[in-house]
Formats: sequence, C-alpha cells, structure tokens
Amino acid sequence: MRISVIGTGYVGLVTGACLAGFGNRVVCVDVDQEKVRMLNQDRVPFYEPGLEDIIRNNRTAGRLGFTCSLEEGIRGASVCFITVGTPSDVDGSADLQYVLAVARQIGAHMEEPLVVVTKSTVPVGTADKVRAAIREELEARGVQIPFTVASNPEFLREGAAVSDFMCPDRVVIGTDDPATEETLKELYSFLPPEKVLCMDIRSSEMTKYAANAMLATKISFMNEMARICELVGADVEKVRLGIGSDSRIGYAFISPGCGYGGSCFPKDVRALRHTALRHGYSPRILQAVEDVNESQKHVIFQKILRHFGQDISGLTFAIWGLSFKPNTSDMREASSVTLIQDLLGAGARVRLHDPKAMDEARHILEGRSGVTFVEDQYEAIKGAQGLALVTEWDVYKQPDFQRIREEMESPVIFDGRNQYSPQEMRRLGFTYYAIGRPNKG
Ligand code: UDX
Repeated sequence: MRISVIGTGYVGLVTGACLAGFGNRVVCVDVDQEKVRMLNQDRVPFYEPGLEDIIRNNRTAGRLGFTCSLEEGIRGASVCFITVGTPSDVDGSADLQYVLAVARQIGAHMEEPLVVVTKSTVPVGTADKVRAAIREELEARGVQIPFTVASNPEFLREGAAVSDFMCPDRVVIGTDDPATEETLKELYSFLPPEKVLCMDIRSSEMTKYAANAMLATKISFMNEMARICELVGADVEKVRLGIGSDSRIGYAFISPGCGYGGSCFPKDVRALRHTALRHGYSPRILQAVEDVNESQKHVIFQKILRHFGQDISGLTFAIWGLSFKPNTSDMREASSVTLIQDLLGAGARVRLHDPKAMDEARHILEGRSGVTFVEDQYEAIKGAQGLALVTEWDVYKQPDFQRIREEMESPVIFDGRNQYSPQEMRRLGFTYYAIGRPNKG
C-alpha cells in the first residue's frame, strides 16, 4: 500500500517506519526542514530504541522517504495518517490547529481517493472537523474526489514504541465506512485479527483518552496509597505486591513514584477533563488524578526539607535521571524539572546526570544559575549533601554504593522510584528516604 504520514514526532516516525518495514511504501512529511534533512541521513532527532535501524533499512530499500512537501507526500497514497501534535491549549483543551491545518492542506492537494486517518490523540468529534475541513478545500477547488476519515489512536509508549507498534495489545479502528474498515484491516494484517477492534469513530477517539486516564488514575491512586502508607507505617511496596497479585487488579502501572510525566498522561487527562466540562459535567476522578500528581511531583523536595530543615540555601543536591521515564530523552512534564525548580527556588544548587536527556535538560534550564551538568553519574554526586533518584534508568539500579558514600558530602539518598532496599541502604550507612516506605526500624 502507498501511505503518507504527516508529522514526524514519535507517533508519526514509528508508524511510518514500521509500516514501511511491513512492505508498504511510506512517505513521511514534516514542516521542519532541519528534521527532514536529518531523517534523510537516517538520523533520528530523539532517542528511541531500534527506530534508527528500521529507518535506515527501509530508506535504503527505497520504501521510506521524508519530505517537507505535503503535496509530494500524499501523491499516489491511498492512506494518509495525520500524526501532528495536539498540545494543551492554555485552558487545558487539546489544541487542534495543527491537525486541522493539515486536513485543509490534504484537501487542497489530494488528487486521488484517500482514506485520512487521525492517529494523533484528538478529542471526540475531531474526525468530523477533519472531514469538514477537507471537504471545504475540495469545494473551493471545485473538484469531487472521494475520501473518508477514520480514527486509529496510537497506544505506543516512548522507549518501547517500536515493539508496541509491532506487537500491540490491540489496534483500535474507528470508522463508519465498510471499505475503509477493510483497507485499514489490511494494513494491520500482520496482527492476529482478534487484536484489531473496529468500532464507530467517536468510541475510538474516546478509547484513547479513557485508556490514558485509567493508567494515570492507577498511578495517582498508588501515589495516594504511598502517602497513607507513610502515615500509618506501612510499606507501599509490600502493599503493591499484595494487591497486584489479585488478577482483577494486576501489577501493571501501580508503581508509586514522584509523579507521572510525559507527552501523554498530563495532557490527555487535562484534555478529557476539559471535554467533560464543556459538556456540562465536572469530572471528579480526573481532577483528583491531576491534583495528586501535581503534589506528588513535589514529594522529594518536601522530604528534603524535612531532613535538612527549611533553609537549604547553599546546599548541593545531585539528581540522577532527568527524562520523564527511562529509555527516552523526553523531558516533557518530567518530575525532575519540578524538583530542580523547587531546589533552585530555595537557593540550593543542583548537579544533574542523565544517560540520554542532558541536551534537552540544558535547553530547558538554559540561563539558570546553580545548575551543573555532569557527564559521569558518580562525578555528579561529588560534594553533594543529598542524592535524589528521579528516573529509574538501568545504570542507577545497582550503583557502586561504596563510591557514592565516598563521593557525597553526606550519605543521604532520596529515592523517588523505590529502586533500593531500605534495609540494605541502612546497612550500608545511608540515610534513605523512599516513597511510601518506612525509613525507620
Ligand atoms: C503513555 C501510555 O502508556 C501510552 O499507551 C500512550 O500512548 C502514551 O502515554 P508514555 O507517556 O510513553 O506512554 O509513558 P508510560 O510508560 O506510560 O509512563 C508514563 C509515566 O507514568 C512516566 O512518568 C512513568 O514514570 C509513570 N509511571 C508509570 C509511574 O509513575 N508508575 C507506574 O506504575 C507506571
């Protein structure tokens, strides 16, 4: 099949590259000339395991190309994916300007029948707006070219995006047109048919929000349990095992921590809340999920103040892990940023380390004083009064604790992801604070 993909962010690049890998001819379009230039040299502008190889292989095989011209990108295509960003608007709703601008351009340039698929996370009802925008442009051109609009939300996780695309739990297709359904089913014929769920467009659009809201709810719920565990002297990690073993609950997404971040959960929970409000319903659970997460992002800072007292000016803290989660360079809405801002705001200094997100961190923190970026994780803790683990990259999981003790000014660890054993930490002579775990006894 000939496919075009508009927007080369995570979703677009992974979709385009993987579909090319299944033998389709794919052209990816992006307005960013520098990005397109890089991609045409097989360079991926962000870190995503496995993606660069797939892009190189398929580009070399002539199945994958990149261009800035949407007109060129959709020429000859029978399916066109819209995968541009839907950032939060100031009020928290999803900003559809990029999606609708692309829809208008599709209408302005398409020459052959086309299935237009929204893959970006878009509010319920967006497919109708996309359809109207394309139709308007076609009418303005005075041409009649058949097209349909479908929804096919993406559930990929950063850091596991390629394997999520290749082996998803399910693919959701929303369309009211049987021929479109067949076309998209054919595209996903590399999956067992029971994994492809077809439904109406609005349910498909809503599925994406409901899935992310559910996952965010599980995390905030667990973070709330962690708070209560601390108060009553229980260990949330034991509680997690205790409840996760119930098959109705499961182990996934119940790890407490210093808050969720990323490009999806925060934005999508806000957008869904906004959609509900617009329809006259004030969602109480979604509001609580957001509130708990916001306060959870400050939890390490509060533990630091409790340990060192309110005046931490002049103290130095090392931070391990800056990306919003391991295996990505993405720092969008990362808990590390909240902690760094809290610490700098209180007059402390920070020494930062991350295996992949240092460039992004430099960009975000440009011009801030009191910030030192350190390429070596042990060098980062040199002279620090405290070490905060914010993102559980593998390199931090079994560190040389002896060395940590030697390098640090005082051996205090704030573990925002419950990576270490409290008993072991005490045995090694650390003062150790985790999330929802007793730090005494
Ligand atoms: C998420 C969804 O998983 C994916 O299906 C959707 O398409 C996009 O949003 P992603 O943002 O890449 O993917 O990250 P994910 O791995 O889901 O983690 C999100 C955040 O939740 C991270 O900050 C992570 O640290 C946090 N998290 C996750 C927890 O705090 N506890 C958990 O148990 C799981």
